[in-house]
Amino acid sequence: METAVFPAETRAAFAAAYPASPAKLKHGLLEHPLLTLDALAELADALPASEIEYNPGKLPIGIRPEDVPTSDLSVTETIRTIERAGSWVALKRIEQVPAYRELLHGVLGELKDLVQERTGAMMQLEGFIFITSPGSVTPFHFDPEHNILLQVMGNKTMTLFPVEDEDLLGAEAHELFHLGKHHRNLSWRDEFSAKGQAIQIGPGEAIHVPVKAPHWVQNGDEPSVSLSVTWRSEWSYAEADARAFNHVLRRIGLRPASPDPYPAQNRAKALAWRAARKLGVAA
Ligand SMILES: [Fe+2]
Repeated sequence: METAVFPAETRAAFAAAYPASPAKLKHGLLEHPLLTLDALAELADALPASEIEYNPGKLPIGIRPEDVPTSDLSVTETIRTIERAGSWVALKRIEQVPAYRELLHGVLGELKDLVQERTGAMMQLEGFIFITSPGSVTPFHFDPEHNILLQVMGNKTMTLFPVEDEDLLGAEAHELFHLGKHHRNLSWRDEFSAKGQAIQIGPGEAIHVPVKAPHWVQNGDEPSVSLSVTWRSEWSYAEADARAFNHVLRRIGLRPASPDPYPAQNRAKALAWRAARKLGVAA
């Protein structure tokens, strides 16, 4: 049998935290051949351009004349020179490449039993890889997936905020996000700092990021590679649909209560939204 990616203590920590709380975890993916910079440059070549987001870096200081590209760096050049590129790259939905699909499914398969008994079936498994130059910052935002961020190279600090705090992420922003009308980036105010929990991870460590928990990320002073393994669940779909239904109620002048946090299941509003959508009366 292959060695497990998550050690027993991490399974226990995840079980204690999932789905509502952040947790620092450990993983065994260091030295994995699919996660070297060279392998990731090849992955970037294999993925459709629409699945790659990157910031073409400035030319590094001290580059040899024969290495000077004619224009901004390509994504593969950015990955290979990430140490000096002053840049970042996001490779999205890596499961479109079979070897990465197998990796993602293997990692998440280890947690499937724990996930299912809390939030129902594990669905829409997606993987993302973030390759970042020293010192990069990912601004304050939230994501719609259950997520574990596994650190492979370098250090980063993620500061996470409580998902139920509507000062940070208001009910209407939740609703509009699920209707495709609100960007995942959130506006920041300095007084939010006190509500954050900073978790630092280095190679071999990971963070459980609860669905939609607002967060921002500061990279350390080395290049960083992180793998994000994500999934949706019956519970997360129902919460999203309940939010969307609330938007319908708000539009007709009501002031709907926000969905209760886990373990509330939000089934009634989710079913109402699904029915409204079928009838074509939805937002
Ligand atoms: Fe994120």
